[in-house]
Amino acid sequence: MWHSSFFTLSFYCIFFLLIIPRENFSPVTGLSVDLVNTTCKQCADKSNVFNYDFCLTSLQPIPTSHVTNLKGLALIAMELALENVTNTFWSIEKMLTSGQFDPYALGCLKDCFELYGDGVSMLVNSIRAFLHEQYDAANVLLSAVMETASTCEEGFKEKEGEVCPLAKENYNLFQLGDIALCIINLLSLALGPKSS
Ligand SMILES: *[C@@H]1O[C@H](CO)[C@@H](O)[C@H](O)[C@H]1NC(C)=O
Ligand SMILES: *[C@@H]1O[C@H](CO)[C@@H](O)[C@H](O)[C@H]1NC(C)=O
Repeated sequence: MWHSSFFTLSFYCIFFLLIIPRENFSPVTGLSVDLVNTTCKQCADKSNVFNYDFCLTSLQPIPTSHVTNLKGLALIAMELALENVTNTFWSIEKMLTSGQFDPYALGCLKDCFELYGDGVSMLVNSIRAFLHEQYDAANVLLSAVMETASTCEEGFKEKEGEVCPLAKENYNLFQLGDIALCIINLLSLALGPKSS
């Protein structure tokens, strides 16, 4: 099961490299920078999860995020979340064998490892749904990915005094998921009820 989801994952990574630059990449222009700025502003105003600066610093440095449309920007946000969830998955694996954690924390880390593994495949499926313009399905999967982060975090909070070694990662993923959700919602609104 793992193998197939990671196979799909690598497939999508290659896919993005090929597709995004060709379809959506445009040189940095005032207009495209505006899109990142205005989208981040619109989304941060509505969100109680992330702020404008987090959105901007996440989306701005990615060259392909200088895209001229909302669809490209939504893909970038999901791609960032995918990179995050994948990196965290591998760092949990390292933590599990580091010998640095007590049995309780190790138990939590094992749960998080499974959650993040599922998160990777859910995100890949969400991107697939998005590419097929099934925005509702993409949203449901994205919300489930955000849930992954909070469930992992809660595991550590169940025992007093346990500090979650993944607090930053969980929070990053949660925020990136919310950014992607917001952009997809803007996109659905822009396209009207027929397309969602
Ligand atoms: C976008 O936001 C950044 C940071 O706030 C700012 O430096 C830049 O001038 C803004 N660009 C536009 C076109 O508004
Ligand atoms: C996850 O995303 C955040 C926000 O864009 C970024 O600062 C961080 O470096 C990323 N972490 C990983 C492990 O990819």
